Amino acid sequence: MSSKKIVVNKSLNLRGTVKVAGAKNSTLAILAAIVCVGEPCIIENVPDISDVSLMCRILSKLGVEIDMVGKNSIKVDPRNINLTCANFDEMRHMRASYYLLSALLSRFGEASVAMPGGCDFGLRPMDQHVKGFEALGAECETVGGITSVKCKHLKGGRVYLDVISVGATINTMIAAVRAEGTTIIENAAKEPHVVDLANFLNTCGADIHGAGIDVITVNGVKSLKGATYQIIPDQIEAGTYMAASVAARGNILITNVIPKHLESISAKLREVGGEIEYFEDSVRVSCSQKKLRRCNVKTMPYPGFPTDMQPQMVALLSICDGTSMVTEGVWESRFRYISELRRMGAKVSVDGRMAVIEGVRELVGTNVKSVDLRAGAAVVIAGLIAEGTTCIENINHIERGYEDIVGKLSNLGVDIKAVTEVPREKVLTA
Ligand code: EPU
Repeated sequence: MSSKKIVVNKSLNLRGTVKVAGAKNSTLAILAAIVCVGEPCIIENVPDISDVSLMCRILSKLGVEIDMVGKNSIKVDPRNINLTCANFDEMRHMRASYYLLSALLSRFGEASVAMPGGCDFGLRPMDQHVKGFEALGAECETVGGITSVKCKHLKGGRVYLDVISVGATINTMIAAVRAEGTTIIENAAKEPHVVDLANFLNTCGADIHGAGIDVITVNGVKSLKGATYQIIPDQIEAGTYMAASVAARGNILITNVIPKHLESISAKLREVGGEIEYFEDSVRVSCSQKKLRRCNVKTMPYPGFPTDMQPQMVALLSICDGTSMVTEGVWESRFRYISELRRMGAKVSVDGRMAVIEGVRELVGTNVKSVDLRAGAAVVIAGLIAEGTTCIENINHIERGYEDIVGKLSNLGVDIKAVTEVPREKVLTA
């Protein structure tokens, strides 16, 4: 086995243009939802990231045919699915694989799915997903790491989510789309990818209203038809380049974005000293301040500041003047990466869901790990602004959600490369 690393040298003054890829979390939900559509679909603006490849491999194992039909476009044909039990190793590596529960249930009346992995943020319960399925009349049980849902005839119901959950909102919406009658999801998640999924399903003939507000109404339809659909741009990838540009005192144009999705991120970046200008589908982010200012951040469900931008923001705040407080309002435990930033000289203490960051004059490059996807992005940002060289291990986490991060940052003038380390035994026997 060879291990890939990212090596980044201090690179201030980012310049140029970076194009954001399609949204990871939309793509994963939409690819799974095609199973319940039951007809071929063409999906455009699909990001070239390993989580999408993994989802495609899982779908192929179920009997779905997948073909590239252009750069970032795939044709997904779910007509010949021959399994309703998805108990593959791949399932355990990706959270979004649990969308297959609702998609298979909706189409075949049953599904068994191995419980997913994904980033480790402490407990990741599924009680709200179960609540959604049960409201539609399904029986659910989890035995030996496999969750099974069953209902030959789903009927619309009313579900109030006790916590705002993207996954439970999406799973309930997919299950309800072909159920008999109307389903009402109260306290629904409002994230852009929830809206994108609803738009995709409506393009296929579904009757969903209210995606993007607290109450989603799904009027069940008898059948759906295939469609061509373009995925929205990735809010978090855009936010990551925005934070990088402010941290590294850049002046960059970020294209293929929906500025409305970036408002909470822009507000915080402006507070620390960034300048942000919106255009129709792009955003210019620059920073000419010598000293950046501290700020407090609390992560919340959309339209609040996204938890998936929390690590990148902490990396930026680590060099802002003064003491900042960051409260994690979504996940129980999402500060595991702080030890990596500390290795680079950041002064951060963590107490439960709160991190207190005392800004330092500079970070110093060293060897660090990407402990999860967004934590990986945070150490890349830290590497841009740290003196000397930062060498990042475990970059497979970063590759799960960032399309060609090395190429995109190189184009902005960053001194960055991916290196593959060949193990010593291999060198000796070569
Ligand atoms: N929760 C429950 N019960 C449930 C479901 C969730 O208590 O049945 C709790 C969770 O423990 C958490 C909160 O509700 O405290 C929010 O969880 P949610 O279900 O919204 O998260 P998710 O659907 O598992 C998605 C994204 C994550 C992102 C979160 C929050 C996908 C594939 N993943 O996860 O994205 O952090 O929403 O916005 O859409 C990432 O892209 O890096 C990533 C981790």
